Amino acid sequence: MGSLEGKVAVVTGAAHGLGRLHALGLAAEGARVVVNDLGVAADGSGRDDSAAQAVVDEIKSAGGEAIAHSGDVADFADAEGMIQAAIETYGDLNILVNNAGFTRDGTIFNLTEDEFDSVMRVHVKGHFAPSKFAMTYWRQKSKNDGSPVYGRLISTASESYLFAPPGQPNYSAAKAGIVSLTMGLAQLGVRYGVTANVVLPRARTRMTTTGPTAAIFQKPEEGFDNFAPENASPLFVYLCTPQAERVSGYVFVVWGQQVKVVDRPNPNGAMFQTDASWNLETLHAELGPHFEKLEPVVDGYTVPAA
Ligand SMILES: NC(=O)c1ccc[n+]([C@@H]2O[C@H](COP(=O)([O-])OP(=O)(O)OC[C@H]3O[C@@H](n4cnc5c(N)ncnc54)[C@H](O)[C@@H]3O)[C@@H](O)[C@H]2O)c1
Repeated sequence: MGSLEGKVAVVTGAAHGLGRLHALGLAAEGARVVVNDLGVAADGSGRDDSAAQAVVDEIKSAGGEAIAHSGDVADFADAEGMIQAAIETYGDLNILVNNAGFTRDGTIFNLTEDEFDSVMRVHVKGHFAPSKFAMTYWRQKSKNDGSPVYGRLISTASESYLFAPPGQPNYSAAKAGIVSLTMGLAQLGVRYGVTANVVLPRARTRMTTTGPTAAIFQKPEEGFDNFAPENASPLFVYLCTPQAERVSGYVFVVWGQQVKVVDRPNPNGAMFQTDASWNLETLHAELGPHFEKLEPVVDGYTVPAA
């Protein structure tokens, strides 16, 4: 018997890449799965309502249970419909894996308003909307039952959140938004039996093989295939299992043979004090000597030692 026997899962963006593997992995553990996907291209263009069904067919031919949902994660009505589809078809919801997304890269000099808005929309609103309806269901169920639910919410961010590549300002801002959103959900969820975590994967999918990262993500001719997406997906499934019930509010990086737990953002750092209100002189008197010893940060979070 699988570790998720009887559980009900929704996976967004599950027709391709990592989402497909999450759906297959959850189903292999016994979960019944709503396979959501809008069937768009790697840049978010187009639409193919049959994309999710292909993964449903794969799950069924392996002996699992699944239904397709071809809605848009960032549309409130579609997001509500996706959560409802799980509850109406399988009688419950236990797992939401927010995964859907796409990239439209460019520096701030080149990105258009639409390229900014569409990437923010699919990631931030596309995590917010399904999470809103899942969390609302879990809170109500917990109140009705008078006991905690079995709820697992996984969000998908990116190391772009940590390192902020200048060629992805829309994507890195969106992924940072997902991390903060999920940390808040983790704090709420603990009252109702819901865990919420974020995973930052590295994997060879169409997202990483159609742009400038293609060379990095190539399959090596020999040795361990670090970027095979099959290395990243098991952590998502693990976080959905009963064994992970104490894991909540964390950010993970996963690739190859590594899992990293990212330190929480640290509000403690260099601290400066004034006796009165700050003004330009007192600010410079305090901050000037500190920054004189430091270089501007040009490589993400790696701050040179003072
Ligand atoms: N591949 C990596 O190395 C990597 C690294 C960091 C983060 N991620 C994140 O992992 C997630 C999955 O990416 P992937 O690499 O598997 O890419 P992918 O393009 O293979 O899969 C993304 C899926 O999302 C679907 N989708 C897009 N917009 C949608 C919408 N509005 N509604 C429903 N479905 C929609 C697409 O149709 C596609 O099937 C994304 O959130 C991505 O940002 C991936």
